[in-house]
Amino acid sequence: TLNVKQRIENTRQKALLGGGQRRIEAQHKKGKLTARERLNVLLDEGSFVEYDMFLEHDCADFGMEKEKYPGDSVVTGRGRINGRTVFIFSQDFTVFGGSLSGAHAKKVCKIMDQAILVGAPVIGLNDSGGARIQEGVESLAGYADIFQRNVMASGVVPQISLIMGPCAGGAVYSPALTDFTFMVKNTSYLFITGPDVVKSVTNEDVTQEELGGAKTHTTTSGVAHKAFEDDIDALLQLRDFFNFLPLSNEDASPVRRCDDPWDREVPGLDTVVPLETTAAYDIKDVVLGIVDNNEFFEIMPDYARNIVVGFARMDGRTVGVVGNQPKVAAGCLDINSSVKGARFVRFCDAFNIPIITFVDVPGFLPGTSQEYGGIIRHGAKLLYAFAEATVPKITVITRKAYGGAYDVMSSKHLRGDVNYAWPTAEVAVMGAKGAVSIIFRGSSNQGEQEAEYVEKFANPFPAAVRGFVDDIIEPRTTRMRINQDLVMLACKKQSNPWKKHANIPL
Ligand code: COA
Repeated sequence: TLNVKQRIENTRQKALLGGGQRRIEAQHKKGKLTARERLNVLLDEGSFVEYDMFLEHDCADFGMEKEKYPGDSVVTGRGRINGRTVFIFSQDFTVFGGSLSGAHAKKVCKIMDQAILVGAPVIGLNDSGGARIQEGVESLAGYADIFQRNVMASGVVPQISLIMGPCAGGAVYSPALTDFTFMVKNTSYLFITGPDVVKSVTNEDVTQEELGGAKTHTTTSGVAHKAFEDDIDALLQLRDFFNFLPLSNEDASPVRRCDDPWDREVPGLDTVVPLETTAAYDIKDVVLGIVDNNEFFEIMPDYARNIVVGFARMDGRTVGVVGNQPKVAAGCLDINSSVKGARFVRFCDAFNIPIITFVDVPGFLPGTSQEYGGIIRHGAKLLYAFAEATVPKITVITRKAYGGAYDVMSSKHLRGDVNYAWPTAEVAVMGAKGAVSIIFRGSSNQGEQEAEYVEKFANPFPAAVRGFVDDIIEPRTTRMRINQDLVMLACKKQSNPWKKHANIPL
């Protein structure tokens, strides 16, 4: 018999090998790193502290009692990213396909509980064949235990899911409950049921990749927030992303030393908006010009591109940026862009990240597909999100702010703290053509009346004389103005009336 010391050492060595060399090679052949290799890339060197390396499944059916792996099918613990604590689980596909046993769930729940307790984010690296089939309902119970914790942690600590392999069936709902879901191109997929089940139920022929690959979820379904090239790219970008986030809802965002002058003028912004009011420009040129070092981490860059959202820094501090994108569908709000924007705004509000909003919006997208799809209910989400947000809110109207969409986009009326108009701003109920065709219906000199309407409304004055914008600013000074305002707003304290929870229209 081995002495205890040897036994401990042997067990540790066994745990480090997961499902064994043959399966590790199979994992590499698929272009994927192993669970532990991923942790090495993601975390600061030497910072990983592992929990439950000895924990094993206790299933005794189907011969499982003879097949045990120390640590079972997930590696869990805590570590650091740029010195800041994060709790992490990394599913090990080499052990029973990373499937979720009762033991696996117990390990994940333990780190989630501790993350909530101390206030640190949770990152899940997902690579799993789903419920451990041999364990039956034990495994389903495990999922629900995780879901419950995802919900309890929501709004308390940031939760990020990186999908790096299969994630199907009940397994998809943990990532869906987290704040951000990222995917690796070509090697990851998310779906409720796989292609075979789809074929038998709806008779559709679809591949795994088409049904639930990174492209599908980042362009069509909006389930995932960003796709990365491969494991290494995903993990390194996740490190960058993590640097924007506070550790919890009671923590401030990290401050990065900023060598970009806070009062830098941006002359290019004076001419970025075309003279022709219907001509397009790229709102990202505006965003990049204003934020620190032109660095912008865009969220959902390929979904609902008529709105742009993402994280940046202003004088070293994290801000959330929301902007209508005139380049895509004239920047109108529709169902998908409203939902995209609302979810982002609510994340920022939950985690005390100031929101900078750039407005150039011709209104909501008309049509039966939008109305039947419930644009009223979905558009209300974005309105609701801005209205309930108590973080510093700074708004810049670069050009159009028409109709209800003007109200929605972090207007003064929704407690915007500082609202600016550029000289090119037009705040009105609608564009001149539409307006004149209604108020002067059948009139013969609509050209003249249109000119009168433009003269009256297609400029920032109607909003400025009422105090609905605080100032009309030179575009080149926007960075400086926003930075000054953020300093002023750093101590902003605002709270909403007590409630059990709010009832955002879903
Ligand atoms: N429960 C138990 N073991 C599982 C498992 C599960 N849900 N999913 C995979 N495994 C095991 C396999 O038996 C295999 O074991 P082995 O290494 O001893 O041979 C190993 O994990 C790898 O699986 P394999 O099927 O060889 O890998 P693959 O890359 O070809 O396919 C999947 C991956 C996920 C597509 C496939 O394993 C699968 O369909 N699994 C079942 C998914 C499912 O329906 N889950 C339950 C619903 S939530």
